[in-house]
Amino acid sequence: MIRLLYLSQASSALTKDQVQKILESSRRNNPALGLTGVLIHGGGVFMQVLEGPEQAVLRMYLKILEDKRHINCKIIYITPIDKRIFEGWSMGAIERDDVLGFDQIMELHHQRKEVVQAKVFTNAMHEFLDILKAEHG
Ligand SMILES: Cc1cc2nc3c(=O)[nH]c(=O)nc-3n(C[C@H](O)[C@H](O)[C@H](O)COP(=O)(O)O)c2cc1C
Repeated sequence: MIRLLYLSQASSALTKDQVQKILESSRRNNPALGLTGVLIHGGGVFMQVLEGPEQAVLRMYLKILEDKRHINCKIIYITPIDKRIFEGWSMGAIERDDVLGFDQIMELHHQRKEVVQAKVFTNAMHEFLDILKAEHG
């Protein structure tokens, strides 16, 4: 399995309903594909973690790339995994600008650090999971 994290920009200011539509298709399609993850939206930016079988993750990423609701997709972290972080979340949702970890990841992205700091990403993802659990049980 792999875990992939990418950033993108919402192509326009998306309403809650429009983001909800994305989550609905994710939750409809992802379970059969063995995909889990989280979609964070805020401040005109998306950040999504996709985890699951390598081919399924990469195929879904290619499909998502074509989606006109966002632009400038950039993979910022991709790693082989034996264990999911987002087990049970066909697509968790976090809607806010001030997520911990989100800022750090944006910062790393802006700096385009050559050394990928795996720990920063995995720590941030565990923070996302804590937020999901706190907000949605
Ligand atoms: C930021 C973003 C994240 C998305 N994530 C997923 C996803 O995890 N799973 C999914 O099936 N579709 C996702 N989509 C939607 C796909 O691009 C596509 O519209 C959808 O899979 C089509 O589903 P359908 O063939 O069932 O209508 C995402 C779209 C955007 C803009």
